[in-house]
Amino acid sequence: CPSYEYVTVEKRGEGSCVGLVTLNRPKALNALCDGLMKEVEAAMLTLDKDPGVAAIILTGSEKAFAAGADIKEMQNKDFVDCYMGNFLEGWDGVTKCKKPVIAAVNGYALGGGCELAMMCDIILAGEKARFGQPEIALGTIPGAGGTQRLTRAVGKSRAMQMCVTGDPINAQQAKDWGLATSVHPPDQLVAEAVKLGERIGQHSKLVVAICKESVNNAQELSLHEGLHVEKRLFYTTFATVSIFSIRTLFTSFGQKNNSI
Ligand code: CAA
Repeated sequence: CPSYEYVTVEKRGEGSCVGLVTLNRPKALNALCDGLMKEVEAAMLTLDKDPGVAAIILTGSEKAFAAGADIKEMQNKDFVDCYMGNFLEGWDGVTKCKKPVIAAVNGYALGGGCELAMMCDIILAGEKARFGQPEIALGTIPGAGGTQRLTRAVGKSRAMQMCVTGDPINAQQAKDWGLATSVHPPDQLVAEAVKLGERIGQHSKLVVAICKESVNNAQELSLHEGLHVEKRLFYTTFATVSIFSIRTLFTSFGQKNNSI
């Protein structure tokens, strides 16, 4: 395993099938400096390639998942620096993972922290989690997906209110609005995420990856295109070994399927 400065990487759960990446820059509440984001991408993609890993958890500390982009790194940039340097490009490393990524969010998930959580596939929240896009208070707007992924997750009116007021929502609201799937006591959050990862790990890694691709297409494609690609991806599963489990379960289906 490569050594990291800003993250820790472990494997947890049954057969070590769940990767766990923990943001580890506690003094700055896991503010997302460039070095940290590069390490997040490297760690996630290393686990994504690990054949024993079925799902990956991204978490922070009990106080902060991440308090946003590093304001100290940001404050002296001007438009030319941002534009010519492609500021925040390459922050979406998490979205390159084929395996499901679970964000386990305790404490603050603000600005880039909320955006990073939303790049994951499933969000579990700790009871004290706070999700928000406070950029407006700094005189800027979300720049890593906040206006886009949040709107898709919670709907336009709620996303608009969060982005133009900068006011955060709590864990229960995040669950009620569909941003998070469940809420847990802070000290049990990672264990719950590991259980979810283990559950995913009971299925074919290949078919889970194909399924993830198809669900995520719903964020990108029109319904017509999404349904078309879903059908094609469904067909590809018939070329996998996993489909044999269906054949064993439903012999008549298997015989019919074999004859095609
Ligand atoms: N960048 C850099 N440092 C940060 C930081 C950030 N986003 N958030 C917190 N820190 C640092 C603080 O500077 C402080 O460091 P020092 O002790 O060296 O001064 C340390 O973390 C602890 O922070 P606080 O003392 O402020 O802790 P608190 O408990 O009183 O408050 C907080 C917590 C409400 C999260 C507060 O820290 C805060 O408001 N942080 C900024 C949140 C924010 O505006 N995020 C959006 C950033 S912009 C962005 O993300 C753009 C984008 O779309 C990508």
